[in-house]
Amino acid sequence: MSAAESVVRLIYIGAAACFVVGLHEMNSPATARRGNLLSAGGMAAAVLATMVLLATRGGVTSTGWIVLSAGAVAGAVPGMYAARAVRMTAMPQLVSVFNAVGGGAAALLAAVDLIGHRVAGVSGTTAVTGALDILIGTVTFTGSLVAAGKLQGWVPGRPLLYPGARAVFGTLAVLLAAGAVWLAADPASLAALAVLLGAAAVFGVLMVLPIGGADMPVVVSLLNACTGVAVAMAGFAIGNTVLIIAGALVGASGGILTKLMADAMNRSVPAVLAGGFGTGDSPNPVAGGASGTVRQTTAEDAAIQLGYAGKVIIVPGYGLAAAQAQHEIAELARFLESRAVEVSFAIHPVAGRMPGHMNVLLADANVPYPQLKDMDEINPEFARADVALVVGANDVTNPAARRPGNAVSGMPILDVDQARSIIVIKRSMGHGYAGIDNELYTDPKTAMLFADAKAAIGALLAALKTLAGHR
Ligand code: TAP
Repeated sequence: MSAAESVVRLIYIGAAACFVVGLHEMNSPATARRGNLLSAGGMAAAVLATMVLLATRGGVTSTGWIVLSAGAVAGAVPGMYAARAVRMTAMPQLVSVFNAVGGGAAALLAAVDLIGHRVAGVSGTTAVTGALDILIGTVTFTGSLVAAGKLQGWVPGRPLLYPGARAVFGTLAVLLAAGAVWLAADPASLAALAVLLGAAAVFGVLMVLPIGGADMPVVVSLLNACTGVAVAMAGFAIGNTVLIIAGALVGASGGILTKLMADAMNRSVPAVLAGGFGTGDSPNPVAGGASGTVRQTTAEDAAIQLGYAGKVIIVPGYGLAAAQAQHEIAELARFLESRAVEVSFAIHPVAGRMPGHMNVLLADANVPYPQLKDMDEINPEFARADVALVVGANDVTNPAARRPGNAVSGMPILDVDQARSIIVIKRSMGHGYAGIDNELYTDPKTAMLFADAKAAIGALLAALKTLAGHR
């Protein structure tokens, strides 16, 4: 091994350490930014070291360098721009597009490597890992693009079920397996490569289409794990350690996140992948729906309740993100605190539509991290709260989850119904993602403030300020 190769190996080890420590720092919102920077720094160092190694080996021609540099710029510039410019609510689709790019790049790498070695021949290990990489990477590429399309609204969000789906899937699975075995056995065969690429591309599309739009975060997380596996396979195929380590870490953490999300919804990953669940969000909310008496309130009455409370717990949900009302709710919390009201935010693990959705949203509005309380931490506090203010959250507060036989049965919920009084801000009696009535809304302690979250919080704040002026 040359001196340059030894140095590069050391840099790879340093990069791997950065990935592991970075991942650990992402455990808490307070250190997540630093963790992200550390991991990105590790990857930048590994990429640079690889380029320097290629240069010292003299394995790249000057035209090759131009292509390599142009490729790096063509990837880095739009990537950085997209990450900076994206709206918080569009983050899931951006992550999905990045997944697609990662999976596609890994598949391309293996395909080019196999084609490049056609004449000289490749080892059995390279052939097998290459075939698996192409399979997983291509499925991830097309599946992630469809997932991004659903999240963006370019592909219908409802589960797209079609007759004979099982037969089509079965045939495709057989084709995929046959293509992979054929390519592994005969890596020089372009026909085998074409069959595998084609079958995997169609499989990715058909796998995601029947899954409802609101399940996309689980799918995106699973596809993210697949990207990791594809990248690790690419690392094996071309003999690059840092790709193997980075891919394995992404695969493992993505897999754990997928399982955690499915658990928090009390559903299994295979059940999510089977599709057909969820009807998407109600674009035209209608009144009515829940049986029982519903008590309505006004911003002025709700402001009196809040203004004279000692302890308020705010429960954000998907509606807060949809209304983009994070800055308004943060201002309301600050105002209440300035009036000596104790305020905390109750964060359910699957509130919203992506992992950490509420954390990201509230961090965007500079809500201090200590004010954000996880479900297990906040649940015992509801009984001591004078007011629970629910903003665009529905399923994650539904007491029906404690009973068997409905769509949210067994899902851990926020114990909002334990609070002394409850104010719910939403536009109508429309359902949440699970599509069922929320018994909280007919609880005698609950008052409904029917309005868009942004407008309602604005009105609440104005009423609170008037109230404070009169006190
Ligand atoms: P949901 O149960 O989906 O309810 C959101 C509520 O927000 C709706 O009932 C809607 O009622 C209201 N809303 C929508 N736009 C609004 C606006 N502009 N202003 C005010 N209210 C608005 O949300 P949740 O409680 O956050 O629960 C999340 C659900 O998504 C769970 O069932 C979870 O399993 C599922 N899910 C989550 C994830 C992740 S990772 N977070 C992934 C997949 C699925 P109106 O129409 O009446 O306004």
